[in-house]
Amino acid sequence: MSATNSPGFSTLGDLEAAAAKVVPPDVWAYIQSGAVGEDALRANRDAFRRRTLRPRALVDVTVLDLTTNLLDDKVAAPFFICPMAHHGLVRPEGELATAQAAASANVLAVFATLSSRSLEEIAEASVHGARWFQLYLQARFIDSQRLVERAERAGYSALVLTVDVPVLGVRDRLSEMAFDIDPKGSVRNGPGVIAPPRAPTGSQGRYSLRSDAAATWNVLDDLQSITKLPVVVKGVLTGDDARRAVVHGARGVVVSNHGGRQLDAAEAALEALPEVVRAVGSDVEVYFDSGVRRASDVLIALAMGAHAVGIGRPVLWALAVGGEAGVTQLLSLLASELATEMALTGRRRISEIDRTLLGEKRW
Ligand code: FNR
Ligand code: LAC
Repeated sequence: MSATNSPGFSTLGDLEAAAAKVVPPDVWAYIQSGAVGEDALRANRDAFRRRTLRPRALVDVTVLDLTTNLLDDKVAAPFFICPMAHHGLVRPEGELATAQAAASANVLAVFATLSSRSLEEIAEASVHGARWFQLYLQARFIDSQRLVERAERAGYSALVLTVDVPVLGVRDRLSEMAFDIDPKGSVRNGPGVIAPPRAPTGSQGRYSLRSDAAATWNVLDDLQSITKLPVVVKGVLTGDDARRAVVHGARGVVVSNHGGRQLDAAEAALEALPEVVRAVGSDVEVYFDSGVRRASDVLIALAMGAHAVGIGRPVLWALAVGGEAGVTQLLSLLASELATEMALTGRRRISEIDRTLLGEKRW
């Protein structure tokens, strides 16, 4: 791991290769891996490649406005940093560097239950930043409640409940490397904070999971009874589930297949987006993540109805190669590339990015 302050990449295209050179192989496998044969991981990228954009010419694009509101946060871009566990695996400052870069850029960052720094330290490092807290349900609800209360006290402005991990997906790459996904001492939100189970236990046809896997949609009501924070449900891939989330009071849903890390035969998240937008898009904010690598991907997902788009692995790549400066560089490259793409398509502000931007029948 290099301690240099220079970001170590100059385009979005060379970022992944730069990161591969500095991250130890087992950590790299953890970051990059998808579930099982990695079909969902590939599908996420392929889905973007199938889309095309229909530009509008001779629009006055001298001024481009990328700002938007994500629930109660006014931010500088329609993209945000996805919650990801263990930033400390790639950089000693971990989430502190990510938080500072996001706050300086005025980009929303979502921090994970399984962070390498405590949620309070992260908040202190980015006092004025837009920050949401991602919750993995704990085995006892009281422990989830304690985390939520801490997040509310520390000034996080929304709660993101991840619902696609009753158990971790099978990750062949990690099994092959025998990598410990949750290295002892790396989770700083408290010694009792637990990660989702790695596998069901049992045999002869009877398997079981921990009590956090017992949660049903009522858990949204339980959460709202203990916090004033708006709740966003992350990991929805069908209109039915999105509707359930909304019926139970969610203020937003994230269409995501967890970056292809959970269910290998899951649909590409982008393919699920139109159904979810149709089901709940007029009621709540629909966000999207999984496979976003370039500004044109952001544009495509927004045109398909996403309110904002989450960036996952590229943030860890940038953190690995350049720490805070790396994440700053990534966010700035993405924003200026997005501004370029908006100019090229004749869209001056985020609200002008709509379905008419997409090729016929392809959204
Ligand atoms: C994740 N993701 C994730 N999601 C979540 O809700 N809680 C978590 O703790 C984590 N941890 C995590 C670790 C690593 C290393 C990765 C790569 C991802 C999933 C993440 O929020 C997001 O859904 C995907 O990363 C988006 O896909 P891309 O952009 O990585 O393709
Ligand atoms: C992962 C978990 C921690 O995807 O969300 O690795």
